[in-house]
Formats: sequence, C-alpha cells, structure tokens
Amino acid sequence: MAYADSLEPSRQLAEEAALLIRAATPEKPFVIGLATGSSPVPFYRELIRLHREEGLSFRHVVSFNLDEYHGLRRDHPESYHRFMHDQLFDHVDMVPGNIHIPDGTIRTEDVYEFCQEYERKIDAFGGIDLQILGIGRTGHIGFNEPGSALDSPTRMIALDRLTRRDAAADFLGESNVPRFAITMGVGTIMKARRVVLLAWGENKAEILAAAVEGQVTDTISASFLQLHGDATFIVDETAASCLTRNRCPWLVGPVHWSSGMMRKAVVWLARKIGKPVLKLVDEDYNENGMADVLAEHGGAYDVNIGVFNQLQHTITGWPGGKPGADDSHRPERALPLRKRVVVFSPEPQDAVVAMGGTLERLVEQGHEVTLICQTSGNLRVADMEARKFATILEDIASGSQPWPEQQSYARTIQGLLDEKGEFGVDPSPVRHLKGLILRGEARDAAEACGLAEGAIRFLDLPFYESGRYRRFHLRAEDIEATATVLAELRPHQIFATGDVAEPTSLQALCFRALREAWAREGNGEWAGHCRVWVYRGKERPLADHEIDMAVPLSPIQLERKLNAIRKFQSIRQDEWEAATLNQKNAANYDSLGMAEYEAIESFQRWPSAAPK
Ligand code: GLP
Repeated sequence: MAYADSLEPSRQLAEEAALLIRAATPEKPFVIGLATGSSPVPFYRELIRLHREEGLSFRHVVSFNLDEYHGLRRDHPESYHRFMHDQLFDHVDMVPGNIHIPDGTIRTEDVYEFCQEYERKIDAFGGIDLQILGIGRTGHIGFNEPGSALDSPTRMIALDRLTRRDAAADFLGESNVPRFAITMGVGTIMKARRVVLLAWGENKAEILAAAVEGQVTDTISASFLQLHGDATFIVDETAASCLTRNRCPWLVGPVHWSSGMMRKAVVWLARKIGKPVLKLVDEDYNENGMADVLAEHGGAYDVNIGVFNQLQHTITGWPGGKPGADDSHRPERALPLRKRVVVFSPEPQDAVVAMGGTLERLVEQGHEVTLICQTSGNLRVADMEARKFATILEDIASGSQPWPEQQSYARTIQGLLDEKGEFGVDPSPVRHLKGLILRGEARDAAEACGLAEGAIRFLDLPFYESGRYRRFHLRAEDIEATATVLAELRPHQIFATGDVAEPTSLQALCFRALREAWAREGNGEWAGHCRVWVYRGKERPLADHEIDMAVPLSPIQLERKLNAIRKFQSIRQDEWEAATLNQKNAANYDSLGMAEYEAIESFQRWPSAAPK
C-alpha cells in the first residue's frame, strides 16, 4: 500500500496494534517484534501519543527486538538498546522484564547460546503476533544481509559494506560502525503471525521494487516475505516509485499519454533496448507494450521527435535563464536578467557536491546568488579535526607571551574530547567548534565556486544543533529562521533538496522547514514569480526522464567543481563520487542521442510555484 506520507499509515498501523494491545491479558500478552531505524519512528510516536492521550497501556505487551550491534555498550548513543528506550520504552508503561533486545555486549563465544535462548523465549511466549520491519538498502530485514537463508535463526552476522556506509553518519565515520551484529533470522521473522514492513523515501525505492517484484532470493532477504501468508508492505509514494505500476504504468494498464508520460516511456524504451531515441522504430514500440502510444500519436517518427525535443529543451548552460533568448522552450525565464537566486544546502557540502558547477555559472552569469547552509553539519566532523585545532591553538597560546583565555579554551576542548571518548555525544562546545571548522571549509568551497564572501550564510537551524541523525524534530524556530531569510531575500529562483527524502532525515526536515516557511511567506509578491528547482543526493539521483534542467559541465568546469568539493577536508567528502554521478548523467543523455558532454548536473522543477 502506498501513501502520500508516513504519518497517516503509521497512525493506522498504531490503531491496529492498539486494538491487539487492548485485548492482551497477563495470560495472553501481545507479543510484538520491533525494529529500529527511522522507518518505525512515526509509528512509535503514535503509540506514545495513544498512551499519553488515550490511556493505552503496554503492561501486557511483550517485545522482541530484531537486532543489535555487537560490541556496543548499551548506553552507546547508537546502540539499538538506547534507540528503543529513547524512541519508545521510556515513554510508555512497558514492564522492563517484558522487553527483549539482543545483548550486544556478550562475548563472541557466548553468542550462540544467547541466540538459542532468544529463540526459546520467543517460543515460550507463543511466538510473535506482529512483527514490524524496516528494510536496509541491501534488502536486509533485521540485519539479515545477503546470503541469509530462509530458515536462518537468530545469530551473529557480519555487516555488509553498504549497510556500514549507510550507518556511517550515525557513527561519525564508517570506521566506527561495528562490523558485526546479532539479528533474528529470516526464519524467526517468517514465523511471526503477521509482518508489516515500513519504508519511506527515495532511498528505498529500488530495493523495495526488487524485494516485492523480483525473484525470491537470499541475496535480498526481504524478498522472502513474498512467501509469508500475512505480510504487508506499507510505503509512501516515493518509496513505491520503482514498482512497475509506477515506473512503467503502461505495462500494467491504460495510461493517459501526457507529455511527461511519453518522455518517461520513451526514455525507458530507449534504455531497455539500447537505442538512441531517434532510432526507435514502430516494432520497438509494439514489441514492448507501447503500441497504444503509436495509435494515439502517429508513428514512432513523430513520437521520437516529440520526446527528443523535450529532452533537448532540458539542456541549458544558462541555469538562471538566457538573456535576450526566446525562453518558451527553455527551463528558466530570461527575465529578470539579474535574478536573486537562493541555494539551500541542508549540510554545508550538499549544494556544492550536487550543483557546484551550476553555482559557478549562476555567479558568472551575473545573478545575485546566496548560498544558505541550513544546518551547521557539525555532526559530520571527526573528533580528530577538533583536536587538531585545539592542539594548534594551545601551541600558539602557550608561546613566549601566553594567551591564557585561548589556552584555557584549547584545554577545555581537549578535555571534553577525552572525556566523551570515541563514541560519546559531543558536548556543545565541541559541536560548536566542529561547526566553525566546517564553516571555514564551506566558505572556501563557496569561494572556489565564485561566490563573494558575503554570499554564504549559515542558518544553524536549531533542530540540528540539539539532535542526532535519525532523531531530529523540526521546531517552530527552524521555520521562523527559514521564513526570515526568504522574506529578506525575496528570491526569483530557489534551489533546494530533500523533497522526497526519508521523512525524518535531515534533508527532509530542511525541505519541510522551507515548505512551511513558504506557506507563511509565500503570499509576498516575489513568491508568485519564484521558481523552485530541486536537486538530489547521491543515493537516488534523478532518473533521465525526471530531469527538467540539465546543466552541462566542460572538463575544466568539472575539475573546478571537484576542487571546490575538496575544500571539505574535515568531512572527507568523496569528490570522485560526485564526478562519477555527473559523468553518468552525461553518458545517459549521450546514449539517448543527445550531445555528448563531459558531465551534467540535473534538476527537477518543483511542480507548482509553491513548494508543497
Ligand atoms: C538497520 C536495521 C534494520 C532497518 C534498517 C533501515 O540496518 N538493522 O532493521 O530496517 O536499518 O533503517 P531505516 O529505517 O533508518 O532506513
């Protein structure tokens, strides 16, 4: 089932669970299998609300969590033990003895026995009534990485590289992510009477389609759920976007052949059979389930030209509009000649990575560009960077004429770093310093993209400063700060990201702040003339048919962009990854029969004037 957002379906699921919870008794408790990660968070928030506002009691609930990292202390901020207490258990009246979470602290040699015992306990409670799941990008459920068998039991498992990379931000670096975890097996999950898998946002789209529509295979453990008698996938529209009915709706029933649908279908066809658009012939359409588009629009020749032109019109070296040109088929308007352009970057590096070349062009072409770093990004900066700064400062401050205040600041930072240890939570002075380090790098990167000194601003949105990844809550002050900047800058053009991101992610919250700020400020005269362009992160770049503006980069422009990305030294930004994505865009356009460029940055036009 696909929903517009994560809130309504999470509410419905909580209602379903509440019915079962209310029916539970001491003799027949309700046994729920719980998952961590962002996906179940809205569900947990709704359960907490039901407890607080509607008196739902959890006294007869028994829970079994899916998994836990091996080697983490229980109070480690990223342990699933801690996560579950923060997100649910501390806010409801669960009986502590009824909570079961695999113990990540037990010695390796005791793991086998522990896992057996975990299975025995589940059986002793009569099995799991309702199992909640998320899905990782390897297709894992729990931590059942590729290779997990259908009948696998609770056990220790080595984490996949992709899983560790996805957790890298939470752990402030991939090398800090544990290598092993204890997880319920696929077999344990399959024994649950009912299974519900939750998935939200663009990052899940591809793996979800493979799990639901692909072959049942142990390389994607979620695909085994196809064999379960009562499994439901509850997803939002963006997570559902790669399912055949959304990716190729013409294959599952009649469609309205709008120009957007034609573009999507023809690009799909060209890609599928490996031909450029203008070389497609009637047979290609007929043999691939697209005969009706020919019937409606004449032969392949006309359809091809129509789509070719659409694609051609997305390409522009003038992202802010081309002065004096007929703009009826261009992505941006020619007027006003000098636009006020606001580029929003959730963390300081995001915009430079996704659109450094476009930023440079906008500046070069005379627009008034302001780069707004929405959050400080300080959670990404490694301890080592803060320590390096503190050490240098201490050395300077301890010279022949000591600077006592600076000395004491440097020592405080060093002391706080020692105290919190490798995995501890950064106290606010450390976060502040890390934010300043990233600020400096962001300024350098902006300068490398041609931006003048005053053209970069730091909003340091409060939700970020007081949170951790996956646990952020947007607040009124965040919207207020965003609204203030919009009202002041009155942009003609906005670039932003996060519109289809997982709803609790940093990018999604930054976009929500923008959307809500717009709702407040959007009746200003400027808003009627403002165009919003969205860019995407590396996890799910825009598909060719989704691109409304393609900004080509020459080899030299790409090199300059990489140089700008390299300024983000403290967060070790992988500039080659960005280059590869941009080059892939260009290669895709080339294979569709468009001009061959070195690299392309891509944008989608926000459907209406106002971001909603
Ligand atoms: C981790 C957990 C999984 C979870 C997955 C996805 O790997 N072990 O149980 O489903 O993350 O997390 P998220 O919902 O944050 O995308």
